[in-house]
Amino acid sequence: MKKVLIVGSGAREHALAQTFLKSPQVDQVIVAPGNDGMTDTDLKIVPIPVTDLIALRQLALDQQIDLTFVGSEAPLTLGIVDEFEQAGLAVFGPSQAASQLEGSKSFAKDLLTKYNIPTARSKTVHSLDAATALPAKFGFPLVAKLDGLALGKGVSIFANEQQYQDYLKDIFTKDPQATLVIEEFLKGVEFSIFSLVGKDGKVVHTPLAQDHKRRFDHDLGPNTGGMGAYSPLTWVSPAQKQMAIDQLVTPILAAMQSENTPFVGVLYTGVMWTTTGPKVIEYNVRFGDPEAQVVLPQYQGDFYTLIMDLLDGKVGQSDWQQKAIYLGVVLVAPGYPNAPQTGALVPTVVQVAPLTINYAGVKDGRAAGGRIATVVAHAQTTSLAQAEVYRKLSVIDTALDYRHDIGYQADLNHL
Ligand code: AMP
Ligand code: GLY
Repeated sequence: MKKVLIVGSGAREHALAQTFLKSPQVDQVIVAPGNDGMTDTDLKIVPIPVTDLIALRQLALDQQIDLTFVGSEAPLTLGIVDEFEQAGLAVFGPSQAASQLEGSKSFAKDLLTKYNIPTARSKTVHSLDAATALPAKFGFPLVAKLDGLALGKGVSIFANEQQYQDYLKDIFTKDPQATLVIEEFLKGVEFSIFSLVGKDGKVVHTPLAQDHKRRFDHDLGPNTGGMGAYSPLTWVSPAQKQMAIDQLVTPILAAMQSENTPFVGVLYTGVMWTTTGPKVIEYNVRFGDPEAQVVLPQYQGDFYTLIMDLLDGKVGQSDWQQKAIYLGVVLVAPGYPNAPQTGALVPTVVQVAPLTINYAGVKDGRAAGGRIATVVAHAQTTSLAQAEVYRKLSVIDTALDYRHDIGYQADLNHL
């Protein structure tokens, strides 16, 4: 029997753990550091922070882990895959060099431009003067992205010159050498492509998903890590999905190969479908959270075999369900994302099909972070799945907050 290590602590990692536990070959999953909500049978949490690569590697060696799957971006950009591979451990994720695709906005933009992959026109700047000149080129609304790992907070959108100048003053006062990518605002419909990328160019695409980044209903309020998601997307045709893959995913994987930083792991392509076709908003080098919680339960095969086959350079057989829509709503602490208040009791939701719950910031049964849990249900249509989740949430007595309109775009039929 096989042992799997998942690196991370959120609801995404909980969904990953549950997916591996469904494999008949896997008898134990360790999540480091995990959280107190992960109480599934055969799941163990070990409190090692995701940034302590040496302790994680030692854990994998001591526990004779057969496969490590890295959920979150921080250890990837620190080089966890390189560390593990040097120790002869099987690990699914990109190298430190390939992780720059998410870790550095300017690295990603340079590659997109060099290889002519459709994206917003942009300029990377390192000074207040250079940044001040850019509205003349791109107009308003205007988008600014801070270089470096953003954790969902790196993107700002400005409606006018005043807002933009105030932002620049603030950024360059804090760090006169700040690197910013300034780009044109893309109008369109957003969705995400997840590609499981193996060795020797082998790739398996999952069903598409749509996230809801703004904190409040009707897409109002600040950006968050994601308040809910659903998958698959009935309003993207198979031909449109293929077009997005051909134009945005395949060429970046080829580019990474040509640049001697071949990509292995989960490639997350944030797509804006514009009137002139699909464009890249961003790449991430891991599953989305909460997208993973609605995508992973759709795998009907043995996920352990799929990932090991990909690491062996074999095309894994991929087997995703196509009959139901999976929809997930994220429960957050009051005050999230700016000032989450900890301490609220976290409800225990009995996992009766079609309902599952994946836990995130839970400590001793109480909210210990901003993102606390994702409640997922599936049904024949998006509105039925939505009704299923919200019916459950309406009878739960909790001080946690959530959005009430996850999946609202599904019926708008907009491409
Ligand atoms: P990120 O933090 O990179 O995930 O971006 C957060 C959100 O900002 C994206 O999901 C988009 O909704 C928005 N965004 C980023 N870049 C652009 C752009 N060039 N045009 C319009 N919206 C954008
Ligand atoms: N849900 C967006 C992200 O994981 O970045």
